[in-house]
Amino acid sequence: MKISVCGKGGSGKSSIVTLLANGARDRGYRVLVVDSDESNSGLYRMFGFDRVPVPLMELLGGKRSLKQKMNHPQVLTQAEIWLRDIPSEYMLEKDGIRLVAIGKILQALEGCACPMGVLSREFLKKLRLKDKEIAIVDMEAGVEHFGRGVETSIDNVLIVVEPSLESITLAERVNSLATESGVNNTWTVLNKVSSEGMALKLRDELSKRGVGVIGAIHNDPGIFEACFEGRPLGDGKAGEEIGEVLDFLLSEAKSGDEGSRNNLK
Ligand SMILES: Nc1ncnc2c1ncn2[C@@H]1O[C@H](COP(=O)(O)OP(=O)(O)OP(=O)(O)O)[C@@H](O)[C@H]1O
Ligand SMILES: [Mg+2]
Repeated sequence: MKISVCGKGGSGKSSIVTLLANGARDRGYRVLVVDSDESNSGLYRMFGFDRVPVPLMELLGGKRSLKQKMNHPQVLTQAEIWLRDIPSEYMLEKDGIRLVAIGKILQALEGCACPMGVLSREFLKKLRLKDKEIAIVDMEAGVEHFGRGVETSIDNVLIVVEPSLESITLAERVNSLATESGVNNTWTVLNKVSSEGMALKLRDELSKRGVGVIGAIHNDPGIFEACFEGRPLGDGKAGEEIGEVLDFLLSEAKSGDEGSRNNLK
């Protein structure tokens, strides 16, 4: 199963990716985390890696070379990419989690991030997963990745919604863009929820907009502090809460039953 995690800037995408990945690993899955955010590079710290992996873009000769290849149908020459095919410098591995990064914008005036979008799309399309393997993609903030078609091979889009109107309206937009991209399963997870009343309000606003909520992660000072100090995220209560979201996504993948969309909590 391939899950992409998207939403408004700062809503908690990378934190949710980390919690989901750790939860999947604890359930016996081989987990590949794909860092597809070309701006922020802090995801590796949330997992306790001591460096970022060499970006996949370098495997193709860097951004300039990738840009030249962009209009060729075969950006990546292989028809299929299995986990074992990814060289170790490009895929860090620790405690059952594997991390790859597409590429980062490092210099001023280096041009747009389109080549990274193309590489994300092609990599995810060709990525083949075996039974009990899962890929979780940390998307850049906003919706540009839909314009680049990054979601074409994604099974589940998970939108992170924090308590703000901006975040809610973006979720509605992402929901329709995901449908237009051919993704059958789009869900939201609430994050940074400070009270049950707040959770109810958010669920209500999202249901008015036709967006299904599959779980809520409360405001957790432990997550905030770990991010602030650059430490790996622990699990704690948020780990339990993400468990529900993960179990939902995994059972959805097993049943492949779109009808269960109507049975949301
Ligand atoms: N459940 C939570 N409780 C408390 N703080 C949280 C929670 N989730 C995320 N945060 C905090 O919110 C901030 C943004 O989180 P994170 O980096 O995961 O968001 P993001 O959506 O990936 O951001 P960006 O768009 O910049 O990539 C961080 O300071 C993080 O510690
Ligand atoms: Mg992030």
